Amino acid sequence: MTAPIAHFNGKLLPLDQVFISPLDRGFIFGDGVYEVIPVYEGTPLHAREHFERLQRSMDEIQLKNPHTVDEWIRITGELLKHHPGNQAVYIQVTRGAPQKRDHAIPKDLVPTVFMMSNPMVSPSKEAVENGVACVTARDFRWEKCHIKSTSLLGNVLARQVSVEAGATETILFRDGMLTEASSSNVFIVKGGVVAAPPRDNLILLGITYELAAKLAREGALKLEFRPITDAQVRAADEIWLTSSTKEVLAVTTLDGKPVGSGKPGPVFRRMHALYQDYKAKLKNARTVAA
Ligand code: PDD
Repeated sequence: MTAPIAHFNGKLLPLDQVFISPLDRGFIFGDGVYEVIPVYEGTPLHAREHFERLQRSMDEIQLKNPHTVDEWIRITGELLKHHPGNQAVYIQVTRGAPQKRDHAIPKDLVPTVFMMSNPMVSPSKEAVENGVACVTARDFRWEKCHIKSTSLLGNVLARQVSVEAGATETILFRDGMLTEASSSNVFIVKGGVVAAPPRDNLILLGITYELAAKLAREGALKLEFRPITDAQVRAADEIWLTSSTKEVLAVTTLDGKPVGSGKPGPVFRRMHALYQDYKAKLKNARTVAA
């Protein structure tokens, strides 16, 4: 089987022909940033927002963006010509490969750009209808979780806690307050009111978090952004995970105990319907425009 086509520093080539220097600071230091964009039948969902977030991540780590948002969108379109169907596009930019290992940021290094695309499997019908299991852990990551950095060891170790428990995600608490999950954002619902932790440096501001917030407002759901305690999460009627690949998923057990009724709740079902409608409209808009 031939290797799938990837993008490497301005060129499209088979993934097995992409070679990156061992001195690349992405490899040596995790000195890079990334994005994951969901694509439905060729149409990226909120590509602009993802590339704007990439820009913010790069600004935070003082990395010069080799492309404008429009260029990124064009490059993504070229890659996607080789990847039909539902896809997750992965974009990584590292600080590049210097001559030697040195923590200090070298001047004028050319960033390394790597992109690939993989078939995206949306949550199964079973997961949507029955919800998923999550466990909890302490959030011991650094204080710049708003940067979508490739330095993901804290997230990897957090995820492993749920892997070992046979659960879908690990929900994290820092000093007794909800932050997010290892690779998703977390919402709760109590008494019909949807709540999410504030947009700050302790969470990655998810594009899906923003979309869920917009859909909640448009769907006339009550929504608040506020600090959420561990006890409030455990007493919630509903808990949701959001991410580009998980979309919106209900959490129905937390640390082995049922969440609310133990079934995906009515507010989740409403949000899930709004999300699916939004995706369908996106597809129709493209068909009309094409
Ligand atoms: N993860 N929080 C963390 C720590 C994440 O890694 C992600 C996404 C999110 C949700 O962000 P968004 O809605 O923009 O996907 C929140 C991606 C999917 C990943 O690393 O694969």
